[in-house]
Amino acid sequence: MNIPQRVFLNGRFMPAESATIPVFDRGFIFGDGVYEVIPVYGRRLFRLPNHLARLDMSLAAIGLGQPMSHARWAEILEQVVRENDDTGGDMSVYLQVTRGVAPRDHAYPKNVSPTVFAYAQPLTYPDPAQLRRGVNAVTVPDVRWSRCDIKAIALLPNVMLRQHAVERDAAEAILIRDGVMTEGAASNIFIVEAGHLVTPPKGLFILPGITRDLVVELARAHGIPCTEENVGEARLLAADEVWMTSSTKEIMPIVRINDRPVGSGKPGPLHARLHTLYQEYKRAFRAGEVD
Ligand code: PDD
Repeated sequence: MNIPQRVFLNGRFMPAESATIPVFDRGFIFGDGVYEVIPVYGRRLFRLPNHLARLDMSLAAIGLGQPMSHARWAEILEQVVRENDDTGGDMSVYLQVTRGVAPRDHAYPKNVSPTVFAYAQPLTYPDPAQLRRGVNAVTVPDVRWSRCDIKAIALLPNVMLRQHAVERDAAEAILIRDGVMTEGAASNIFIVEAGHLVTPPKGLFILPGITRDLVVELARAHGIPCTEENVGEARLLAADEVWMTSSTKEIMPIVRINDRPVGSGKPGPLHARLHTLYQEYKRAFRAGEVD
């Protein structure tokens, strides 16, 4: 695991080992903060305006103002990439804003400056062997709260759910709330039924994934039918294909759920199609042909 060398903390770039936060930071005490994970291809931050718009939404939801303009965010994130990029390869940027340092008391403190932190690290491309073979998943009751649309740093339920999956030799936990699929522990989920793509609609119970939106956009632009509707667990298990999507995993085929094959038990033809469209979009993005 690569430890990032230089990080951004509260207005300054510094070596990671010098970056420290007070123990009374509300991120540490309460998990009171929000974050983003942004891929970087060809030194360009992928879908940055979408990530910053989602950050605006998360901050507003927890009653925190934006600590800086989108233009300033772009400068900082580009610099954090430059300071850590010795190979010119793909990277991912992590940023987090917490409510700041205050005596422990649940309600929001007044006149406190947020803690702003960002780092970049090499992006390990989704393992090609995994992409070829697909991964396993398990279904698990969605025990999280009712504001999963906020990209909150308080991820204990997600951590426990992903661990539950890993202990069953699965790469992801597909979460089920009241009999309906919501999302993965750290991804959005798509199913394919007779050439038709389906993913749950946005709402309070899923994170509005940037990769999810791009997959929907690419499918629609290429005449692949795609609808946003709720999917019950039985329908999920009967699908021809199931995928998980995220900024770091892109579009990963799920080929077994709860130890039973999905469709043929191999990544399906629509996955191959969308994977190709996604890679083509990334190529165009690297070349500066799309924003
Ligand atoms: N997680 N849903 C959840 C709960 C997530 O944590 C993520 C991403 C997604 C996919 O969102 P996006 O396509 O914008 O990456 C959906 C990130 C990658 C993480 O926590 O590392």
